[in-house]
Amino acid sequence: PRTIYIGLAGLGNVGAGVFKNLEQNGDLIRQRTGADIQVKKVIVRDLSRARDVLVPEDMLSTRWQDLIEDPYIQVIVELIGGTTTAYDLVCAALRAKKIVVTGNKALLAERGQELFALAEQCGVPIYFEAAVAGGIPIIQVLQEGLVGNRILSIHGIINGTCNYILTRMSQAGLSYEAALGEAQEKGYAEADPTLDVSGWDAAHKAIILASLSYGFWIPTSCVHVEGVDKIDILDFKFAKRLGYTIKLLSVIRADQQGLVEVRTQPTLVPLSHVLANVSGSFNALLVNGDIVGETLFYGRGAGQDPTSSSVISDLCEAAAVLMYGSRHSGFVPHGLYGKSKPIED
Ligand code: HSE
Repeated sequence: PRTIYIGLAGLGNVGAGVFKNLEQNGDLIRQRTGADIQVKKVIVRDLSRARDVLVPEDMLSTRWQDLIEDPYIQVIVELIGGTTTAYDLVCAALRAKKIVVTGNKALLAERGQELFALAEQCGVPIYFEAAVAGGIPIIQVLQEGLVGNRILSIHGIINGTCNYILTRMSQAGLSYEAALGEAQEKGYAEADPTLDVSGWDAAHKAIILASLSYGFWIPTSCVHVEGVDKIDILDFKFAKRLGYTIKLLSVIRADQQGLVEVRTQPTLVPLSHVLANVSGSFNALLVNGDIVGETLFYGRGAGQDPTSSSVISDLCEAAAVLMYGSRHSGFVPHGLYGKSKPIED
């Protein structure tokens, strides 16, 4: 296998997950992709902070420029969040011709247009599977699986924290504050949970999905956003009596004139609807394409492991581009490992 060195910016919940899971599944990834993906340097804010993954001390630094200046690092994983330092880092990485992998939905929703223009100019890709819906590979679905479809609409539950809060309030009668506290403890919430509960995290993801679906960057000023912070337990009681539950729904659709509408808001969902049964930190997206019809994608939408699964998927794509010049890893079952279980009578 060929060694691909990566630089990891951010060792928070998701960054630590990427480090841990790259080690855990390194053999499998080598077998499938032919790449030995090695973390070479890790950027952290505070060197003295206790962490739940063991990273050799000589790999740690507080200077993101170290990743850019290291000639062996070919891929930069941006998991620091925010739209300031992260923006500088991504721009510098692209200019240095290093592939960027990011999970930063706020950055893409707010500055995606400039960043993708720069990426094109530099001839370097940006991958962002982890930016939307945690472990659900919805970006690949829109870019590849459904590429031949006009997207008529997407209805999604795409914020794990809000869905967790609403689930705990409706099913266990928890107060809003207690449910938010639990979501934070479980590592679903953003460093600043206001982004989650205000609806903006979901709106950022909806902007990314809409932009991929319709081919232009939707301005944040055109997005209607409401959060879950004003929902009361009493609202669930009334909703239930009428046969509904409340979900934070993101809706993306184009009208007859092709005008694209993007909104995120608490919505009454009939109890019999498939989205009503998406609980806890799970996300789901109902994507309606003109050829395929309705398709449903469901999975864990927040948290360390599912989100790192998406980052690792992007890293494998990056490795494939570096090794073969193609985005597809081209993995096919080639029979080099594994055995099938014989049928038992
Ligand atoms: N805070 C986000 C959420 C993390 O709760 O969905 C995943 O993007």
